[in-house]
Amino acid sequence: MNQQVFAATDNYISTLFAEEDEALKEALENNEAAGMPAIDISPVQGRLLQVLAHMCGARHVLELGTLGGYSTIWLARALPADGRLITVELMPEYASVARTNIDRAGIGEKVAIRVGRALDVLAMLEKEGVPPFDMIFMDADKPPYTEYLEWALRHSRPGTVIVADNVIRGGRVLDANSSDPAVKGVQRFNEALAAAKGVTQVVIQTIGAKEHDGVAIAVVS
Ligand code: DHB
Ligand code: MG
Repeated sequence: MNQQVFAATDNYISTLFAEEDEALKEALENNEAAGMPAIDISPVQGRLLQVLAHMCGARHVLELGTLGGYSTIWLARALPADGRLITVELMPEYASVARTNIDRAGIGEKVAIRVGRALDVLAMLEKEGVPPFDMIFMDADKPPYTEYLEWALRHSRPGTVIVADNVIRGGRVLDANSSDPAVKGVQRFNEALAAAKGVTQVVIQTIGAKEHDGVAIAVVS
């Protein structure tokens, strides 16, 4: 097996289960034109988020790390008409591209973009008394992943689904001596998630068109 087989198989799966419409394709084009890194989730991962959202009956969703809104579009499309998604983005220029992409995808009224450092925005949401979320998708900067998890657990209810992207990093999580802040962040996160009480949790490694990585999935009891 090699990367070509993984990519072709990912393509086979997405052709069957995760076909992108024009709005999703245009979102990626707009992101590239705006000079954003192409670190969006894959179509199959987008479909996985939709499956999980439907499984937990998600109506109130939080996303950390909007980038250009590609994953936001997948997620928001899994919500009922009165569903609401708050997505947090550090970079104002990315948030602006995301706003265009999200509105173009027909789910604009469901999505609020909050601009700022995720930890600052989370503190603000807590102050505002935001109700528990049904689903939380973490895909922002990796060093504070453990703090995002702690916040997520405090703002969950039984049945809340917590998903975290990029927790394997091409297997670099195996390097206990890594000095990469992103790797160290997800190592700390994986250990905290494994030790967390009151959740049923797992990490699955992902292979496909993108780098070998992994996704953490937890459901709160
Ligand atoms: C990076 C971040 C991501 O969220 C991702 O999916 C892939 C890479 C990064 O910062 O390198
Ligand atoms: Mg990611």
